[in-house]
Amino acid sequence: MVEQPKIPEYPESYWRDSVKQLPHFSQLQESIRTEVGIVGGGIAGITTAYLLSKQNVKVTLLDADELLNGTTGHTTAKITAQHGIIYDEFIQHFGLEKALQYYQATTEAKELIEKHIDELGINCDYTKEDAYIYTNSDDYISQLETEKKAYDQLEIDSDLLDDIPLDVPLKSALVMKNQAQFHPLKYLTELVEEAKNNGVQFFENTTAIDVEYNKNPSIITKEGNRVTCEHVVVASHFPFYDRQSFYFARMYPERSYVLGAKMKQEFPGGMYINAESPTRSIRTTTLNGERLWLIGGENHKTGQGKSTIEHYNALKDFANNMFEVEEIPYRWSAQDLTTIDKLPYIGQATEGEENVFVATGFRKWGMTNGTIAAKILTDKVVHGKSKYEDLYSPTRFQADPTLRKFTSINADVAKHMIKGKLEFGHRGIEELSAGDATVTRINGKRAGVYKDKDNKVYALDTTCTHMKCEVEWNSGDRTWDCPCHGSRFSYKGDVLEGPAKKPLPIVDVRPNK
Ligand code: FES
Repeated sequence: MVEQPKIPEYPESYWRDSVKQLPHFSQLQESIRTEVGIVGGGIAGITTAYLLSKQNVKVTLLDADELLNGTTGHTTAKITAQHGIIYDEFIQHFGLEKALQYYQATTEAKELIEKHIDELGINCDYTKEDAYIYTNSDDYISQLETEKKAYDQLEIDSDLLDDIPLDVPLKSALVMKNQAQFHPLKYLTELVEEAKNNGVQFFENTTAIDVEYNKNPSIITKEGNRVTCEHVVVASHFPFYDRQSFYFARMYPERSYVLGAKMKQEFPGGMYINAESPTRSIRTTTLNGERLWLIGGENHKTGQGKSTIEHYNALKDFANNMFEVEEIPYRWSAQDLTTIDKLPYIGQATEGEENVFVATGFRKWGMTNGTIAAKILTDKVVHGKSKYEDLYSPTRFQADPTLRKFTSINADVAKHMIKGKLEFGHRGIEELSAGDATVTRINGKRAGVYKDKDNKVYALDTTCTHMKCEVEWNSGDRTWDCPCHGSRFSYKGDVLEGPAKKPLPIVDVRPNK
């Protein structure tokens, strides 16, 4: 029997690995003043900084980690207005006009990316591609037909097909023509360079923990420094600043997985996603002159479901069943946030606080949603308004069906709050092998224990510092993930992703005296 290619032992994003010259910046060491303070160095934050710098606005951008190491560094980087099967749903929920606005906004985002590539001469493997949703399930054929009718109402250039260029089993497919893809980090590192030349100050390893609201709001950092601004833009994926807006209860986090694989066969072009579950997304990029296929999918709520390494294995099995896999040099995962009505939250973060903005809830379509967020927030800062502000307003409220979703998100949280506290692993610390983790009792208390490859043990209190749910071990990424609102912690306890702001406390593994 021919042995199947293995997945890599450690996750690594192809995007980050293939950009050798990632920009690096120092930590903020003092209190400063600026016009616009941006928190978050992903596509939304960096594009906002770039657009504002072109308008001669003085900008400071802070990132808790390194720039481009969050969801933007781990995306599949499709630049498309085809955000799954969504337009019929948007027409039903919001009406034709708003659905059309969403399509126009995402198309404008695509054009803005193209404009930046042209004006800065960026070499970022940008290619025009058609985008396909396909299905091999009878249940989804009529949904694709209904979605096609929605496309027609919105005058989207599209076709309903019974065959697509990619050789996968299917019964129907819907193509949206003239979409695109690129290498997001090659694109964004150029935007960072240009923004820096225009005077934007970037700081890394600088965690924003609060905003002191005022006519001139101040971003407060973990080290106690303040960035006093005229406007604050919170583009930190999960908003670190909530102020009774309850973003954690109005969005849910999902993880998804990507394999970067080399195949024996030719790729016919195009970007593909299936309609049914489990999700399978396929596109390619270039690795040393060869095609690298990006096979994505396996979404699930953060901290819930099976061992995360099994999700990578499921993608590997799919790739092996469908194609001739030669090698799998990369695997990585990403976390995305979806709002209760599926529209991102972009605009004024909280009622009554006019100069603090938020951009979040991009529902896996961060390249276009992050770019339009940057345009909207730039227009708000420079002109005081944006034509899209009502559509994306974070303070909007739709009674139905969002209320049901709101209730179900929070009922799910309540379930995990209780369930997690009662669950323990079956292994003690002595039984752990290197690279493995367990949840056990240490001195009578629940503790998460990880043993690294040198057999060094790290024990943490597993109670999430956000709202006290119990974190679960993520074997694929070697992190502790919270099933309630998606906070993630390193095996040393540091916060990798909010809403939690404080690390998990370290537990002493020595017995009580
Ligand atoms: Fe809210 Fe953990 S993220 S309780």
